[in-house]
Amino acid sequence: MEVVIAPDAERAAGHVAAIVAGTLRRLAHPVLGLATGSSPLAAYRLLIDAHRRGQLSAAHATAVLLDEYVGLPPDHPAGYRAFIRRELIDQIDLPAERLFAPDVEADDLGAACERYDRLLAELGGVDVQLLGIGTDGHIAFNEPGSSLASRTRVKTLTRATRADNARFFDGRVDDVPRHVVTQGLGTILEARRLVLVATGAAKAEPIAAAVEGPLTAMCPASLLQWHPKATVVVDEEAAGGLRLADYYRETFAAKPDWQRW
Ligand code: GLP
Repeated sequence: MEVVIAPDAERAAGHVAAIVAGTLRRLAHPVLGLATGSSPLAAYRLLIDAHRRGQLSAAHATAVLLDEYVGLPPDHPAGYRAFIRRELIDQIDLPAERLFAPDVEADDLGAACERYDRLLAELGGVDVQLLGIGTDGHIAFNEPGSSLASRTRVKTLTRATRADNARFFDGRVDDVPRHVVTQGLGTILEARRLVLVATGAAKAEPIAAAVEGPLTAMCPASLLQWHPKATVVVDEEAAGGLRLADYYRETFAAKPDWQRW
């Protein structure tokens, strides 16, 4: 695992945006795995800026979402499809019909989850998957206790996650749906590259557990330890609990060009 400690949130975003931009420039038909939540927003803004300056195109790309709430009206602004359209897709040239998300409207949700996993395979897999981390260590909506081999499925959110996400529902925790469809940990593990971004002191504890704690279903983000090409990008605050912080800083500062991923 590569750990990049940026001096601040803006430079953390710059690092993440550079990885996504590099993927868009390098591949003929890139599949981007996009995350919602506040963590990737600064990186999305940098990508939008680059697009507006004429330096970046996503016209040849496909985007897939990690997860979606069950039970929200399709046009609800906190829904993840609406969120990612607003915050990124509608502001760049990625064709809207090339954005895919779990189908939470299906009568048979279980079958829809299986279809989503099949769709990811048919697309050829995800080239780069962006991730945030919940304060309880979740990634996508895989709460603690999620099977490390899990596939896309319905999950129930913890009270803590619903409280964390209440800010997207005018602060009303009771309005945050209880159920979601999320890519499983096994599904996420199949992406060719994972990039997790976390900023702010509230993420220091889950980041320390994910990066330096045991690989365990109790901290789903620790799954990144099992992935051959995972990068964790944090600012100084989110790096606050890392015992090997100096080593990560030294490693990144001295990273030779030939080692660039
Ligand atoms: C939600 C999302 C996750 C996200 C997490 C952290 O639960 N499903 O994908 O990583 O929140 O959110 P934030 O980045 O806003 O802290």
